[in-house]
Amino acid sequence: MKVFITRKFPGEPEKILKAEGFDASVYQSEEPVPRNEFLNKCKNADAIITSLTDKVDKEALDTFTKCKVVANYAVGYNNIDVDYARKKKIIITNTPDVLTDATADVAASLILGCARRLREGEAIMRAADSINWKPSFLLGLELKNKTLGIIGAGRIGQATAKRMHGFGCKIIYFNRSKKENFEKEIGAKKVSLNTLLKNSDIVSVHLPLNEKTFHLLDEEKLKLLKPDSIIVNTSRGEVIEEMALIKLLKKKKIFGAGFDVYEGEPKINPELQKLDNVFLLPHIGSATIETRFAMSALCVQNVTNVLKGKKPVTPV
Ligand code: DGY
Repeated sequence: MKVFITRKFPGEPEKILKAEGFDASVYQSEEPVPRNEFLNKCKNADAIITSLTDKVDKEALDTFTKCKVVANYAVGYNNIDVDYARKKKIIITNTPDVLTDATADVAASLILGCARRLREGEAIMRAADSINWKPSFLLGLELKNKTLGIIGAGRIGQATAKRMHGFGCKIIYFNRSKKENFEKEIGAKKVSLNTLLKNSDIVSVHLPLNEKTFHLLDEEKLKLLKPDSIIVNTSRGEVIEEMALIKLLKKKKIFGAGFDVYEGEPKINPELQKLDNVFLLPHIGSATIETRFAMSALCVQNVTNVLKGKKPVTPV
């Protein structure tokens, strides 16, 4: 059975799949596969390993004549039309759990980076020949006793909260369901979205992207943020109306913002690059050696299971 892998991934999943007896091939680059080649190669594949830049939309799914499983190398799957795949009886899998800690580490890094103005400090040191210490130089915000609002208390949201609880933050969260264990463990309190935005000193966004969450944090909602607050996003850029956030940052209506994801990725709004009060990362939430290898292994496991007639480990 044929497996097509749309990029070179750490851990060389093609080798493991070949050893399992599959006819696995890979697009020989770390860059995204061009659309035509993607559709062409996937036409006769029994399984496909995709990344978040591959659009698995209706057009693509209609060309997959033999495909039984699409294993997405990401926890997010907004690049895939899951409902249509279900109609076509194609199983979709993702890579939860294995990237929780890596992504929470990046969310916590963005929070620290914004609060202590680490990016500005680092940039100054690269251009300086000595340290110009001054009493009011690069004053940031202390984290102890600050309120952290977690929007989306799934695995990554909770893991971020636990890290920041260790820094002395009090935790509130907005989520559809109540998270009893989370509440017991670190005293987190469930609140409405508006209450969270009005009361948080730091907001960390951890929602999947779908029709309900697109621009959930629009201009009206963002205006509820406290003037000294920080907002960071490690989920998907489109959950925040980025232009509205840029406006607030330009007018210094909030203290700062940290981004690992952007609206309209892979493009980045040049207005963001001009701002001092932002910390910008290139979508590296899951980018640790351990996690990226584990993501490959999970994709391989999902593909192998489905092609051998077993249940996938992490179906969407
Ligand atoms: C994910 O897993 O959804 C990340 O954004 C990509 O690794």
